[in-house]
Amino acid sequence: MSKVKTNFVCQQCGAEASKWLGRCPGCGEWNTMVEEVVPKKTESHLASLPASKPKPISTVDTAAMPRLLSGVGEFDRVLGGGIVPGALLLIGGDPGIGKSTLLLQVAAGVAEKYGPVLYTSGEESAAQIKIRAERLEKMSNNLLIFTENNLETIILQALHQKPSLVIIDSIQTMYSPEIPSAPGSVGQVRESTGKLMRFAKESGIPTAIIGHVTKDGNIAGPRLLEHMVDAVLYFEGERSYAFRVLRAIKNRFGSTSESGIFSMEEQGLAEVANPSGLLLAERPQGAPGSVVLAYMEGVRPLLIEIQALVSTTCFGMPRRMAAGFDYNRLILLMAVLEKRVGLMLANQDAYVNAVGGFKIVEPAADLPVALAIASSFRSTTIDPHTVVMGEVGLTGEVRMINRVEARINEAASLGFKRFVIPAGNLSGLKLTKKAGLDITGVASISEAMEAVFI
Ligand code: TYD
Ligand code: MG
Repeated sequence: MSKVKTNFVCQQCGAEASKWLGRCPGCGEWNTMVEEVVPKKTESHLASLPASKPKPISTVDTAAMPRLLSGVGEFDRVLGGGIVPGALLLIGGDPGIGKSTLLLQVAAGVAEKYGPVLYTSGEESAAQIKIRAERLEKMSNNLLIFTENNLETIILQALHQKPSLVIIDSIQTMYSPEIPSAPGSVGQVRESTGKLMRFAKESGIPTAIIGHVTKDGNIAGPRLLEHMVDAVLYFEGERSYAFRVLRAIKNRFGSTSESGIFSMEEQGLAEVANPSGLLLAERPQGAPGSVVLAYMEGVRPLLIEIQALVSTTCFGMPRRMAAGFDYNRLILLMAVLEKRVGLMLANQDAYVNAVGGFKIVEPAADLPVALAIASSFRSTTIDPHTVVMGEVGLTGEVRMINRVEARINEAASLGFKRFVIPAGNLSGLKLTKKAGLDITGVASISEAMEAVFI
């Protein structure tokens, strides 16, 4: 083995010497010379450069990447316009949320247009999958079902069949015989995904992996696979509600702000054309504690009803509960209402619910939640044609939010006329449907309360 060449460098001035010196010859400081490895200089590096040259970005040919359209519009949209050949996708979600249903629908759509799709399942029997396909009315001879857990057999089959798409349901049930550990273990999941990655890249066959989310919200333990795959989609929703949201967390071929909205029906997942209308369908008009929020699900505005119920605590500590909204944020907003607006909430129980099973993680929901609590506490109603949005700060100020126009346009198309928005957003508004809208800018919670309570 050749000896590693080292050099001595001054930490202060960078002067170099071939042997250690107590005093730097450059700056005269004592004890500043440290030993460093000299990087090897190799000429072959340049000689082996490939012949390709950099080219202007405008001349890059993107037509060489025709995408597969599954026909499940929302799925294609979240991916940025269909499935890219050779892409490795990861679809994660809680058990029972509908991942197998979604991918069976995608598989059937692709099979119909582009030829055979290999659907491999390590979870269900072929008969179970057939029953599901019958239920979805997605029978096709191009849909090949393969019940197998050995990943090497699956890859060999796929190389032989040359399908237009491979689906692995789920990665936690697959194993590679080279690794001694059990299916679902970190080693197996990582090795299996690595093999699928090589398969997808080398064959150009797009591959979709289903992964169950474990308790702490990660797929297969640590967020092990996310960096290995090209796109990560999460399928979310409350199981007891019909709504499901498909979100892109990572996407090498498109934006991550798109989201697809589905509803789980008797015959599989249906795309929802007008989710806001559906979400507000059962809204009680003119009931205290009900406020409509314009929420951004990625780049998509959605109208969601926020309900609050505030009632006097009968016994002991007051209870606070939030469904679909952050609990700590609720406590904070109640403290702001108490201190800055003077609402005596200390001996009140408070329950807040975002209707429809959506998890609202956007600061724009602060003001509607605060107003819903105030409305229920005072037993006064808010005009049902009003939409509220805004972030609330600790001094009770209402802070600016993003994409106000998109939110207002969505609400206006559903017949909403009154808007309470952060004062800071008012000047920048460029509305397409401004006619007949009553838009109030508010700088604080108290101003917002004056605007909505008569
Ligand atoms: P599934 O796709 O098996 O979930 P996952 O693969 O994420 O574990 O579907 C889960 C649920 O969806 C199941 O409880 C039944 C329900 N479902 C419907 O409501 N309608 C349908 O058409 C299908 C196929 C399933
Ligand atoms: Mg499943």
